[in-house]
This record gives sequence, C-alpha cells and structure tokens, in this order.
Amino acid sequence: LPKAQVFSGIQPTGVPHLGNYLGALESWVALQDKYSTVMYSIVDLHSITQPQDPQMLRENILDMAASLLACGIDPTRSILFQQSQVSEHAELSWILGCLTSMPRLRHLPQWKMKSKQKNEGSVGLYTYPVLQAADILLYKSTHVPVGEDQIQHLELAQDLARIFNNQYGEFFPEPRALLSDTRKVKSLRDPSSKMSKSDPQKLATVFLTDTPDDIVLKIRRAVTDFTSEVTYEPESRPGVSNLVSMHAAVSGQSVEEVVRLAEGMDTGQYKNVVAEAIVQKLQPIRLEIQRLRADRGYLESLLAKGAEKACSLAAPVMTEVRKLVGF
Ligand code: ADP
Ligand code: NA
Repeated sequence: LPKAQVFSGIQPTGVPHLGNYLGALESWVALQDKYSTVMYSIVDLHSITQPQDPQMLRENILDMAASLLACGIDPTRSILFQQSQVSEHAELSWILGCLTSMPRLRHLPQWKMKSKQKNEGSVGLYTYPVLQAADILLYKSTHVPVGEDQIQHLELAQDLARIFNNQYGEFFPEPRALLSDTRKVKSLRDPSSKMSKSDPQKLATVFLTDTPDDIVLKIRRAVTDFTSEVTYEPESRPGVSNLVSMHAAVSGQSVEEVVRLAEGMDTGQYKNVVAEAIVQKLQPIRLEIQRLRADRGYLESLLAKGAEKACSLAAPVMTEVRKLVGF
C-alpha cells in the first residue's frame, strides 16, 4: 500500500443518513484497502461550537461509532477515535490559531452559514476551520477525503502548513484533497436541496436505522413530477433522477443500467423497486448498528483503544512542534 496518511472527521450528530453514507462513508470504507494509515475521528470538539446537551452528545458519539463500524470501518485496518480524547488536537489548534489572521476566517463556509442563522456565533465557531486544520496536520496527513463543501477548509489547512513551515522550518506536508465522487443525494421532499439531517420536513431523509417500512413509506412519498416515465434528467426532473441515482448507488449499477431496467415502469412502480434496493443495502447496516449499540462497554473500549493509537502518533509530532515553536 502507498505510504500515506489519510485523515477525515465527522461530527457526532447521531445516526448518519443515506446522503452521508453514499457521499462520504462508503468511500471512507474503500480507502482502508488503498492506503497504509487511515484515521477517522468523531469530532466532538467541533460539535460544541453549537450548543449541545451533554447526555445527548454522549449518546450521539456512540451512535456515530456504531454507525461507522456497521458501515465497514474496520478498527484493525483504520484508527477510529474520539477527537476530545486526544488533547493534542486542541493544543495544535491554539498554535495554528496564532498563525491565522482574523480576516482569513471570515468568509469560510462554517462561519458564514451558521453564524448568520442566529446573527451571532462563538469564537469556537469562528475558529472551527483552524481546529480542522489541526486535526489534519497533527498526524502529518497527506490525503484528506472531503466533500466539495469542505474544500475551502482544506485550503486553510494547506495554507497553515505552509505558514508554519515558513515561520518555524519545513515540517508539515501539504495535505491533498481526496474528492469523494461527489454523489449528492437530494431531499426526498424537495429535490432541489440536498438530503440533510436537519431537514425539517418529515419523510425527507432516509437514516441508516430506518426500518424497511420507514424506507418504503419515505420513497413512496418522494416528490417526483407529472411525467410517469423513468428517465435521468437531473436538471429538468430532479425528483425522479434522484431516485435513479440512489438506486444506481445502492445497487452498484450505472445510471444507464438502472434506467434500462426501469423501462416500461411508471414512477409509482419504480418507487417500489428503489425502496427494495435501499432496504437491501441498509438492512444489514441497521441490524449491525442495533447489535453494536446494545453494548456500550464494547464501543467505549474500542474508542479508548483508538485514542491510544491516535495519541501514539500525535505525541511525537507535538513534541517536535513544541521544540520548533520554542517551548
Ligand atoms: P448534513 O448536511 O446532513 O448536516 P454533514 O454536513 O454532517 O451532513 O456531512 C457529513 C458528510 O456527509 C460530508 O462529507 C458531506 O459532504 C456528506 N453529505 C452530507 N449530506 C450529503 C448528501 N445529501 N449527499 C451526499 N453527501 C452528503
Ligand atoms: Na453540512
């Protein structure tokens, strides 16, 4: 396997949805076969940039751990850990923050989107991308799987690697983006927007723990249009095209194959086929999440082991960083 250090993080927002799975997690699983060191962090320090209920946060962390494992993240081939258990993340974030100008952060997406909603935001929310840069650089990561929405944040990490190296001496490699194949899953109720956990519309989002009945109901209620034929025209027919692209993704077929298969069906009949394909894909994942989630002790000890491995990589890097900075 090529010598590389892959790092990515996901916020503990509970059980992921089908968009997270097809847009990110499925490729995370595949990266385990392609690179020597692969790290996935449940980034709980990032979560508290917005108000959190402590009890809920604890459960969300375990939900995410169980979900990642159930999707195929294999703790023998990757390092799965909880960010806050490796205190070096916060320490490096402070050092990098001292190399970041205020205006550099003002236009980054996390702040622009989330501070506007409330017209205010914490210092933590403002410096969120600096912490993200620290997550990546702490392991001298070379490759970072990201969605398009995160590119600007990765660019900050690249800038900070360069700024640190200029100031203190060549040390951090510049991390590169591994663009996951940008399959955007759309909201089932409003196919002009993406599927999201925070969609207020009931039935808009398929979660990995949805039962077969939930899935059938949600797909049957999915918004399509007044044409009954099944075609793939994302611009003019976003609803039915979203069904086609989900179907292709969960069944491992191409869009063309799926459209051919749907020839002669109307969209109503086709929805049953799509629902069945999604159920097939998610059923084993759902059962595995349930099984894992019943054993807190196991999940907690697994995260503790992951943190131990992450610490053993982070500690020597931070020792060097401290020396370079003059501590
Ligand atoms: P959400 O938008 O539901 O809040 P996040 O922002 O936490 O999801 O996203 C976590 C990961 O899942 C990111 O890599 C993001 O690009 C990916 N992702 C989120 N929603 C979708 C979607 N609808 N289609 C494809 N990928 C998605
Ligand atoms: Na998001």
